[in-house]
Amino acid sequence: MRAIVVRRYGAPEVLEAHQVPDPQPKPGEVLIRVKSVGVNFADLLQRMGVYPGTPKPPFVPGLEVAGVVEKVVPSTTKPGGDQSLKVGDAVAATTPFNAYAEWVAVPARLVHRMPPGMAFDDGAAILINYLTAYHSMFTMGNLQAGDRVLIHNAAGGVGIAAVQLARAKGLITIGTAGSTKQDFLRKLGVNHPVDYTRGDTVGTVRKYAPDGVEMAMDAIGGKSFRESYECLGSTGRLVVYGFSSIAGADGKRNPVRAARALLQMPRFNPMKLIEKNVSVIGVNLGGVIGKPGLFESELDEVLRMYAAGKIKPVIAKIFSLDQAAAAHHYIHERKNIGKVLLH
Ligand SMILES: NC(=O)c1ccc[n+]([C@@H]2O[C@H](COP(=O)([O-])OP(=O)(O)OC[C@H]3O[C@@H](n4cnc5c(N)ncnc54)[C@H](OP(=O)(O)O)[C@@H]3O)[C@@H](O)[C@H]2O)c1
Repeated sequence: MRAIVVRRYGAPEVLEAHQVPDPQPKPGEVLIRVKSVGVNFADLLQRMGVYPGTPKPPFVPGLEVAGVVEKVVPSTTKPGGDQSLKVGDAVAATTPFNAYAEWVAVPARLVHRMPPGMAFDDGAAILINYLTAYHSMFTMGNLQAGDRVLIHNAAGGVGIAAVQLARAKGLITIGTAGSTKQDFLRKLGVNHPVDYTRGDTVGTVRKYAPDGVEMAMDAIGGKSFRESYECLGSTGRLVVYGFSSIAGADGKRNPVRAARALLQMPRFNPMKLIEKNVSVIGVNLGGVIGKPGLFESELDEVLRMYAAGKIKPVIAKIFSLDQAAAAHHYIHERKNIGKVLLH
């Protein structure tokens, strides 16, 4: 089959198309014919070799797909996942790597039947972005109608998911993005769009929430974690779930930029957390998927909201599998509004 292989860490050009052996599903796995691949920011960092837990090259990147079940190999031990999956089912799945390919074999517990009528592109765009946002805001954050949430990169994949979920639950959103994305934020229904390129984001957020927000969602990292923390009011929760600032527009590894971002990161003082009455929450969706029952119940709620028309992935651009490098450049250059996919 055709797949994108990373043979050495580096800039997007290391994403090369190759013929590789077809995957052979093991007991307990499902073979999926891939229709659409979700490109995640983590893929960029993994390609650069700066993401914890990335395999050594060569590896096939990619963490989520939607497609058609081609084969189900029953488990020989304790069965996991949806036992009713069968050949021909339309499914969405998170994949521990190997998604940038024509076929992928995935443990059954990571494979979810798509609701009737859901397009493959929506299936490939919904799992990671919407579950990260949902888990952060409602499971860990316990946000309630009327709460104010600061969402950074509100025009990105997770950002749009967070805004849509927040709107559906009656939250007030303050969303940041670059200047070219401000009109989109307004159309998306962000209550208070903020152009971070104008500086003084903390002052602007405080204008909209003088006593501080109930939550800040931050995957930028570096000094942004400090600024988001400053935006919190009493009971405020800072969700830290990524470190985009470690990447640059060229997609090349830059130890100076990484060191600067790390040095600018705040060190949280437990006594100050008590005094300010705030929390700092780390979120890693991989850990949620590993907790039986939790991911499924959150996914059920997200799919219910999708079926009710309350949320809908925004697709920024679709590239062919062979154009994976261009897809990564597109995200590095911050051109994406929404999710980038590969066909
Ligand atoms: N912890 C978890 O489980 C989890 C799960 C999913 C995603 N994440 C993290 O969430 C973040 C967003 O992921 P995503 O897949 O939805 O990506 P994304 O937001 O769709 O794409 C990148 C966007 O981030 C912004 N950005 C900020 N700093 C950037 C930089 N240094 N280089 C390029 N873009 C930068 C840009 O928007 P502006 O134009 O607005 O700056 C850009 O358009 C990433 O840090 C990712 O690792 C974490």
